[in-house]
Amino acid sequence: MAELGRIVTEIVEELRPAVERGRVADYIPPLARVDPQKFGIAVIDASGAAHLAGDAEEAFSIQSLSKVFGLTLALNLEGSEIWRRVRQEPSGSAFNSIVQLESEQGIPRNPFINAGAIVIADILVSRWGRYAARQALLDLVSPLVGTPGGLGIDEDMAMQERETGFRNAALANYMRTFGNLHNPVDDTLDLYFHQCALTMSCRQLAEIGGFLMNGGTDPRSGRVVTSVSNARTIMALMMMCGHYDGSGAFAIRVGLPGKSGVGGGILAIAPGLASIAVWSPGLNAQGNSLLGTLALERLVQKTGWSVF
Ligand code: DON
Repeated sequence: MAELGRIVTEIVEELRPAVERGRVADYIPPLARVDPQKFGIAVIDASGAAHLAGDAEEAFSIQSLSKVFGLTLALNLEGSEIWRRVRQEPSGSAFNSIVQLESEQGIPRNPFINAGAIVIADILVSRWGRYAARQALLDLVSPLVGTPGGLGIDEDMAMQERETGFRNAALANYMRTFGNLHNPVDDTLDLYFHQCALTMSCRQLAEIGGFLMNGGTDPRSGRVVTSVSNARTIMALMMMCGHYDGSGAFAIRVGLPGKSGVGGGILAIAPGLASIAVWSPGLNAQGNSLLGTLALERLVQKTGWSVF
């Protein structure tokens, strides 16, 4: 769509000067010092063309967006077996909530809340060990990126995640008491913190998301990343759970499967049409990018891409 370039430029021009931008995550210094004025958008359409505006080629911390890639690997490894250890339902709770674990026998509601992503990390550690699992994540995403540079794991970020990750440690220990963590807590958390510390640009994120747009197959290389059925499962979960207790509002406002991260990134997929990444570091009350959500809302208004 030739107009897409104009549309993303218009969105950035309209929203970039916004005064109300939400609050940048400040639980660790490397996130707190990110410039709140940053704003980028990248759309990769079905033909593979990239439409970029703003800071679309600057790397940022993808944080919880990495939960999409962890889930992809776990589904590739174990298929539907994973649903014995994590459910497929929205939580309606904050991303780092522990409350449901007590009455639900240590089985997290879904793979996109922290507890669920820690179980997924545990599955990957069981298969590869904590170091090779990191590499497996990188090996999943790196070949999908058409533009090298900036993609990697920020070690300092991972270390600071670990030093402040008391709540994630609580979730992991608590699940271990129910037998739903099979590896030493430190090993599983080490992978979880490193995956949260993945960095990449909007452009790279949208390039990676191409496999979801395209039924599990990387549209550039034709390589099968995951099955059609897994891609559907991942996108259904993104729609229902990708924004935690803000998922319902996101589905209504944007109408696309989307996953957010506390670094201010969102990946949204218009199945068969586009893979979209936005980045604005200021967050709303649910920890999702405030301007990023608005940008997606505008994009869908202008393109008619809502799945509803
Ligand atoms: O584990 C955490 O709490 C953070 N490293 C990531 C959380 C996150 O991205 C939540 N998303 N909005």
